[in-house]
Amino acid sequence: MKKNLVLIGMMGSGKSTIGRILANKTKLKFLDTDKLIENENNLKITEIFKNKGENFFRNVEEKISVKALKTSKNVIALGGGAFLNDRIRNELKVQSISIWLKWSPNILIKRIYKNKTRPIANELKVDELEDLIEKRSKIYAKADYKINCDKLNKNKIINKILDIYENERNISKN
Ligand code: S3P
Repeated sequence: MKKNLVLIGMMGSGKSTIGRILANKTKLKFLDTDKLIENENNLKITEIFKNKGENFFRNVEEKISVKALKTSKNVIALGGGAFLNDRIRNELKVQSISIWLKWSPNILIKRIYKNKTRPIANELKVDELEDLIEKRSKIYAKADYKINCDKLNKNKIINKILDIYENERNISKN
């Protein structure tokens, strides 16, 4: 199967950690679009936001994410805002399987505040973050698959994704 396995969802949902392990288990390559953006600009995401602004970041994010999605047979972790972009979502339909790692807002909010490297989250108060999660969730719901992660440990989440991958491989053989 040529398709990419693409993890989407809010910051703090574990896309990068889970993506890396999944890539090992499936022997696929792992692409993390935030890392690709940092490498191309030689700057950390926080610095890109601070020095060049969010618009600049979103443009680079679109370019890099679309390019990553044109490859095949990779595990890809998309940045939390990428799935909101129409061009990125359209590219995802071509040869990717999108999986939303869904968590309750209270769990996400705790995780997001723990990590100070996220420019957007650092500027938002709890109620603003709740609004953002609610708004984005309506769009994340367009993903091909959704995993309710609240009651699952990392291994269980990974096993669910592996099941999806196996199913998709079987479908593409028929
Ligand atoms: C963002 C999420 C971040 C990163 C940037 C903006 C967002 O990615 O792309 O800080 O808008 O949600 P992660 O979801 O990998 O943290």
